[in-house]
Amino acid sequence: MIVAIDGPSGSGKSSVAREVARRCGLTYLDTGAMYRSVAFTCLDGGVDPEDAEAVARVAREIDIEFQTDEGGQRVRANGKDVTSQIRTPEVELAVSPVSANPAVREVMVALQRRAGERGDVVAEGRDIGTVVFPAADVKVFLSASPEARARRRAVQRGGGNLATGENVVVDEAAEKAILADLVRRDEYDSTREASPLRPAEDAVRIDSSDLSFEQVVATILALSPELAARA
Ligand code: DC
Repeated sequence: MIVAIDGPSGSGKSSVAREVARRCGLTYLDTGAMYRSVAFTCLDGGVDPEDAEAVARVAREIDIEFQTDEGGQRVRANGKDVTSQIRTPEVELAVSPVSANPAVREVMVALQRRAGERGDVVAEGRDIGTVVFPAADVKVFLSASPEARARRRAVQRGGGNLATGENVVVDEAAEKAILADLVRRDEYDSTREASPLRPAEDAVRIDSSDLSFEQVVATILALSPELAARA
């Protein structure tokens, strides 16, 4: 059983994919964390993210491992725990040219397919339904308006939770900066030549702007009797 969840950053796909995997007993595959791990390893080793040849070498040699524990999922790159380092603003910037590099994508897609061969996976990214697993059992393209995505991120960063309504304080300046960054990344991800972000023709499109987390998860589970039966 392969579930593919694609969409822009901030659409909520990571938390939704993780929850679908947890409820259905499937393995969660965070492909964004793989591109981030390559970007981090480049920065850590003094490799310029724009140097296509050198970055491709890093990707060919990298060993990426995921470990799930009570605290969530941990990521190791070449034996080093990079779970928090791959979320820094420096990596956020470097990952754009790294993930637009066709040689890097070739290596990552091969690794992702290998993970899929072992069976039950919920894979989340930008090109899962179009390139990595075109024959996935369930394909979802999860989007939300840029404003809704920026609002979620801003609330999250402020330590609040929109789902429960706890501590929802919005810093408008922060929200504006997040919105500008989201728009920049959308533009970059959807106009790059190598595997641009676009929905697979047979993907079910879900706009989560006005849906709760629980509603999005329930909508996905209802897409397939096998998935619903596992939940
Ligand atoms: O989903 P994320 O924010 O962790 O992704 C990090 C970067 O990697 C983002 O710039 C898009 C890119 N990416 C990609 O090109 N293909 C994927 N399958 C997953 C992520």
